[in-house]
Amino acid sequence: GLKVATIGGGSSYTPEIIEGFIKRHDELPVKELYLVDIEEGKWKLDIVGNLAKRMVEEAGIDMEIHLTLDRREAIKDADFVTTQFRVGLLDARIRDEKIPLQYDCIGQETTGAGGMAKALRTIPVILDIAKDMEELAPDAWLINFTNPSGIITETVSKYTDINVLGLCNVPIVMEKMTAEILDADADKLRMDFVGLNHLVWGRAAYLNGENKISEVLDELATGNFKDVENVPDYEWGKEFLQSLGMLPCPYHRYYYLTDLMLQEEIEAAKNEGTRGEVVKGLEASLFELYKNEDLKEKPEELEERGGQYYSDAACDLISAIYNDKGTLHYVNVKNNGAVNCLPEDSVIERTSLIAKNGATPLNVDPLPPQVKGLLQVVNEYETLTIEAGVHGDYGAAVQALTIHPLVESSVVKDLLDDIIEKNINYLPQF
Ligand code: NAD
Ligand code: G6P
Ligand code: MN
Ligand code: MN
Repeated sequence: GLKVATIGGGSSYTPEIIEGFIKRHDELPVKELYLVDIEEGKWKLDIVGNLAKRMVEEAGIDMEIHLTLDRREAIKDADFVTTQFRVGLLDARIRDEKIPLQYDCIGQETTGAGGMAKALRTIPVILDIAKDMEELAPDAWLINFTNPSGIITETVSKYTDINVLGLCNVPIVMEKMTAEILDADADKLRMDFVGLNHLVWGRAAYLNGENKISEVLDELATGNFKDVENVPDYEWGKEFLQSLGMLPCPYHRYYYLTDLMLQEEIEAAKNEGTRGEVVKGLEASLFELYKNEDLKEKPEELEERGGQYYSDAACDLISAIYNDKGTLHYVNVKNNGAVNCLPEDSVIERTSLIAKNGATPLNVDPLPPQVKGLLQVVNEYETLTIEAGVHGDYGAAVQALTIHPLVESSVVKDLLDDIIEKNINYLPQF
């Protein structure tokens, strides 16, 4: 049987991944699942871990759940390591959202200055995890969910020998939305996604071999279709969508509707609170539910979180590797020339062929200027952020924020110093 270690096991999302492994147990026989957390998260690990044990028992499958604070014990001889941890917990996320707002910049936990702060905190930890893997499970696959997922995956890919793929639920959410627009079955659709994590475009939507993307864009302009819970769903505008020629992802609203989004964030911060503050409340009520000994399945309330379907992405991907399936999945993977206007060693989010040896991103036809321009700038922001995160390179951090389209360049130094000061306990590299 397989051994899986999940780092950040105390996450309120854990029932999703448990359900994912239960549903696929016949084709993906996980025998040992280690849920790993840290002292601060132990109370969450205990509550959600006990729910996980009840779920497995109720399903009657042969899978042992171990709850531990010993990461090395969990990683030793694992076949797959999945990461879903949050360095600094929700309080750090709330700071990532609020600090940029003080400088009139978008305050979001993965996109813009907040995303860079989260990357700087997370890079030292992911490199430690990869080091443990190099020693204790050198052939294991690291399946990363920890945000900013593309940057974290690229860090591991550039600086370690570990096999790594990154994931996000956004492509699947976009695929489901496209299926709804076309009134089709999501299983029959194949999307051509290209871009970076939280900056991915749907370039084609194949239904029975026919590309329906322009129909999708026309229809999308007529109304609002639900995407992720955590991004306000302003409409794109018909002319905009038609001239773009691709399906934008929810996070593109920060780039394409910046001022609307900024005003919305400022209002929210004054009223119901930032998304991180709202999530604090959601999480508290989820853990109240999880404590109930009668609960033996994933509760529906979890759908109020933005990461829905992430476990389908993770478990399908793990199964495709384990079973050498040769199927298409949407993953964060080393570019290797698939997108010819980006460096070979950049990690891209792309429709990729998955088999035992990993992911092969499908080749991408040259991109139109409106997509290529933004893609290259944000990619180089990511390159600089990784250099800052790995080496504590302050100058790289200054330049990363300076070129980022969502950061006003004249505030960079003050904003960056503020970010470093408020996060210093999590920034050993600085
Ligand atoms: P959370 O705040 O519940 O954190 C999960 C757990 O991580 C907590 O129990 C915490 O104690 C633990 N943790 C913190 N530092 C740790 C460390 N050094 N080692 C081990 N565990 C540690 O967060 P969440 O809302 O469940 O999200 C977890 C992560 O997954 C975040 O980075 C989030 O951005 C990401 N996420 C990504 C996607 C995606 O689409 N890629 C979807 C959902 C969540
Ligand atoms: C999804 C993103 C995830 C993100 C999550 C936030 O849209 O793909 O990467 O972590 O939303 O959801 P939350 O409920 O924490 O705001
Ligand atoms: Mn995501
Ligand atoms: Mn890159």
